[in-house]
Amino acid sequence: MSFNIAIDGPAGAGKSTIAKKIAAELSFIYVDTGAMYRAMGLLFLRKGIDPKNAAAIEEAAEEAHVTIGYENGEQQVYLNGENVTASLRTETVGNMASATSVYPGVRRQLTVLQKDLAAKQDVVMDGRDIGTAVLPNAQLKIYLTASSHVRAVRRYEELKAKGMESDLSVIEADIIERDHRDMTREVSPLCKAEDAVEVDTSGLTIDQVVDVVRRLYQERAEVSV
Ligand code: DC
Repeated sequence: MSFNIAIDGPAGAGKSTIAKKIAAELSFIYVDTGAMYRAMGLLFLRKGIDPKNAAAIEEAAEEAHVTIGYENGEQQVYLNGENVTASLRTETVGNMASATSVYPGVRRQLTVLQKDLAAKQDVVMDGRDIGTAVLPNAQLKIYLTASSHVRAVRRYEELKAKGMESDLSVIEADIIERDHRDMTREVSPLCKAEDAVEVDTSGLTIDQVVDVVRRLYQERAEVSV
């Protein structure tokens, strides 16, 4: 049986950084589910569909085919056969993904793909509903959090390092709005699974968070042998 680690939490809590490091250490496959929702979001943006138009979104989602692959260990996302990985990390695509991930037709297709990936191999999967809806039987569930201010500062620094000027208060307002949308949607809202371990990363370094997750993995792996 495969060993599944589910990591959920709001945008900017450090999920992908931690998940990638743990996956590399354990030689597990890292699955970034947010990138799949972003690929769907990119499709809707390209088609010029209003995210509030439920019928148009559901119809377009039915025709969309999202798959993933790996190049040099890095996840690649394909939208109808086109590698769209390089176009997914913008704020516009992220906001579209957040707005359209509320639709059952969008979630259904991606959830099937995610469950299938985790059934076949050891994975560290990050997202919003992994411990609650996608992998309810994951052997280890982590819920990563950090204050909205800390998350905004991280994003601000990330953009600055790329030479992009931004406004910290706008970023924080955007994060708060995205959290609200992700936590209050009807289908699979972001919430901590009952059996998830909550880790607040606000005052921790990346290595400290990795240490916590590694320790939890070692405990669970011993039990499941
Ligand atoms: O983690 P991210 O910022 O790449 O995710 C983009 C959006 O996709 C996020 O705001 C909500 C949605 N999402 C989701 O609904 N369920 C997931 N498992 C992952 C992401």
